[in-house]
Amino acid sequence: MSKVIKGGTVVTADRSYTADVKIENGVITQIGDNLSGDEILDATGCYVMPGGIDPHTHLEMPFMGTYSTDDFESGTRAALSGGTTTVVDFCLPAPGQSLLEARQMWDNKTVKASCDFSFHMAITWWDKQVFEEMAAVVDSGINTFKHFMAYKGALMVNDEEMYSSFQRCSALGAMPLVHAENGDVVAQLQASLLAEGNTGPEAHAYSRPPQVEGEAVNRAVMIADMAGVPLYVVHVSCEEAHEAIRRARQAGKRVYGEPLVQHLTLDDSEYANADWDHAARRVMSPPFRSSVHQDSLWAGLASGSLQVVATDHCAFTTEQKRLGLGDFTQIPNGTGGLEDRLPVLWSRGVNTGRLTMNEFVAVTSTNIAKILNMYPKKGAILEGADADIVVWDPERQKTIRAASQQSAIDYNVFEGFELKGLPRFTLTRGQCVVTEDKVETEEGHGKFVPRKAYPAVNRALSQWKELTAPHPVKRDPSKMPAGV
Ligand code: URP
Ligand code: ZN
Ligand code: ZN
Ligand code: ZN
Repeated sequence: MSKVIKGGTVVTADRSYTADVKIENGVITQIGDNLSGDEILDATGCYVMPGGIDPHTHLEMPFMGTYSTDDFESGTRAALSGGTTTVVDFCLPAPGQSLLEARQMWDNKTVKASCDFSFHMAITWWDKQVFEEMAAVVDSGINTFKHFMAYKGALMVNDEEMYSSFQRCSALGAMPLVHAENGDVVAQLQASLLAEGNTGPEAHAYSRPPQVEGEAVNRAVMIADMAGVPLYVVHVSCEEAHEAIRRARQAGKRVYGEPLVQHLTLDDSEYANADWDHAARRVMSPPFRSSVHQDSLWAGLASGSLQVVATDHCAFTTEQKRLGLGDFTQIPNGTGGLEDRLPVLWSRGVNTGRLTMNEFVAVTSTNIAKILNMYPKKGAILEGADADIVVWDPERQKTIRAASQQSAIDYNVFEGFELKGLPRFTLTRGQCVVTEDKVETEEGHGKFVPRKAYPAVNRALSQWKELTAPHPVKRDPSKMPAGV
């Protein structure tokens, strides 16, 4: 059974052109004019783009005494309804737990996935066992390791652990990721805010100022450089962090930065809301920032100093957020966004002229596939690529309402956003699961996407490291002082 997407404009990261796209057995088999097939999807007036890839989600994540509410069932359904066709989630070993055991636990969660998925592995503790298991993790198709520089006493690793793990990543051809906030300083700020009677959600933002993020990014950049690995900084929220990344890239370091759609479009005034629930629902780390920081992030996407847009989707219900009533440090950290990332970024980015359509495709899909080493299986409209496609109707409109969302939580941080530009169809490996408002996903359709080690950047860095490593100078014995 073949399908043809007919009459649309193909929009990729590097160009836009009119063509039909033919799909057989879940992959794109032909791109050209006047194609025929068994089933026709009408793309008149639409853009045919690679499906979105969200490089940062936490589905059914055990965190702060509870589990994030969207799991691989509601989470991947939400993703597909908004045009995202691949999610990259984090396997999170409890401190002391085997990485391979954690991997097994995450494999079990994904049986309900309706879109394809991949994993990052978190390094939450360090010893010989972790060092050894990292090789098996890489062999199993995970080439990225996440390090939390915050969440002291829970997930945080110190500099010694981070440097050891970064060196191991370098040897294995993998890439480290960092959640960059100085966890020691955050812990002190939290304690003094609570002691002063600042117990509400607004204190969450005061406890995590831009400086804690900027400091941590600078530190991670230098540690990665010493270890000879590329570095990927997740949820870049402020100018201080962006500046550190910009400067590193200008100096030739291979550093990537990932802003979230939430930080681009929501600011810190949310925490001043008189309604406790409203503010607590927006508690995430790093917190939302002022417009100066938002402008910096948009500029980074346009200029290329920041490369990808994610959601860090980690959705807690209002009831879960209330675990932190009376003590902001107990509010589960995290917000949703999986189904809204593409539409919100289009409306606030492309419709305003901040991003071109091609830049939109780059930051929501193609750059991610390249950086994480799953291109061109994912992130491409090319013959042979998986038919993960969103047919985008620039005229379709809606207002975001929690009442009609796919996500399982009871609110939406973008409530009331007016959008223009939405999926007409979403296809996951050729299966059309979204037709405008109709969402018919298939639980269990989603497959693991393995990602191999040693992408080009790692090879270049290890070659450079080898050339510049300390070597003894070979000297002519006749030119040595006597007696040596
Ligand atoms: O607040 C956040 N970001 N929650 C999810 C876990 C993390 O730090 O990425
Ligand atoms: Zn984080
Ligand atoms: Zn996260
Ligand atoms: Zn299927």
